[in-house]
Amino acid sequence: MLDDPVPVYARLRDAGAVLPNGPGQWVVPRYREVAALLKDRRLTKTLPEAYYRYTVGDAELSGFLSGQNLGRRNALAAKVLAGSFSPALVRRLDATMRQQVDDLLVPVLASGSTDLVADLALPFPLAVICELLGVPPAERAELWPHAAQLVRAFSDIAFLSDQDVGAAVAALRWLRTYLTDLLRRGTGGDDLLTRMAASEADGERLTPQEIVDNAITVFYAGFETSMGMISNGMVALLRNPDQLTRLRQRPEMTTLAVEEMLRYEAPIQVTMRSPLEPIQVHGRTIRPGRVLYLLVGSANRDPEQFSAPDRFDIGRTPNPHLSFGAGVYRCLGSALARAEGVAVFDRLLASTRDIEFASEPVRRPRFNFRTYDSVPLHVRPA
Ligand code: HEM
Repeated sequence: MLDDPVPVYARLRDAGAVLPNGPGQWVVPRYREVAALLKDRRLTKTLPEAYYRYTVGDAELSGFLSGQNLGRRNALAAKVLAGSFSPALVRRLDATMRQQVDDLLVPVLASGSTDLVADLALPFPLAVICELLGVPPAERAELWPHAAQLVRAFSDIAFLSDQDVGAAVAALRWLRTYLTDLLRRGTGGDDLLTRMAASEADGERLTPQEIVDNAITVFYAGFETSMGMISNGMVALLRNPDQLTRLRQRPEMTTLAVEEMLRYEAPIQVTMRSPLEPIQVHGRTIRPGRVLYLLVGSANRDPEQFSAPDRFDIGRTPNPHLSFGAGVYRCLGSALARAEGVAVFDRLLASTRDIEFASEPVRRPRFNFRTYDSVPLHVRPA
């Protein structure tokens, strides 16, 4: 399953539209129901507190996780967060992205070999989020291990060891303290932290605690996801050399290619919901307090929706994948993430003549937040 969930997904889709997954939990593997349930306002992302107590145990961490979708639970925070991701801010970040990728590629091109994860897929999205939030460049190196630690814990909460929980709590405290202090100092720029502090909705403002927890949510949401898009996308290109050649010949296809990378191997494979009232799914009643696992990764490979879904086709259009979710909880950072993907693959392919695996890529052994721990490559500069 960790190695390759695709055959398992096919079996699940064949088995039914909604499948039992232990007490009070249901799995939804087909496109039609996943798409409909993502948009269904009778479902919430706030899972029963007991769910977090069972899976995480620790009060402080489970408290943060259960409030993690603060953005939507609190209507004010939702408006402020959504409004703060303004197109102008995204355009400003987009303008510097190609340069950031080029800077990271300098040592890679000089040495001719790289671990794509360590050298690009990880530092690039992190730099973008720090820029987005307004974290000063000199303070980023200190922050990043804490952000990485917390994100790692999030990425598969059902499998946290006691040690992981302890490390995640420590990281959460560090980030809260750091960001509270940064907010007090002020970043002095046009960034998300400043916008959240300055914005009001319905005559009300967010408290510093709400701003800080929203900022931490952005780390969680926008770091390993983009890392997954970049590393999964690179591996898909290398394993489908005809598509890599096609993209080298037609660089204007990068935008479409990034969509296909997102569909083919969704960085977020599953998202959970809980009904606010009894709902019917394919003739079955699902009651409040139950947890639904919406298998985005499986929906993206559903042959009822996509022709030849297991083929990686960079020209696929239309491509209505569900990798950014849909409906009220859809990804706020999708424009930013798409721009990141385009910047990386544009610059990487333009500055190299040849890219090949130096050794087998190493998959991160996690089910959700699908990514690699390392993708060792040889590159020949253009
Ligand atoms: C390829 C990269 C990315 C993917 C695949 C992705 C995917 C997603 C998905 C599937 C959701 C909704 C989860 C659900 O339905 O439960 C989500 C939410 C979110 N994403 Fe992204 N994301 C990506 C990058 C980013 C980036 C770069 C940012 C910001 C810097 C970001 C910010 C957010 C936020 C703030 C939410 C929460 C919205 C809310 O509930 O209020 N994402 N993302």
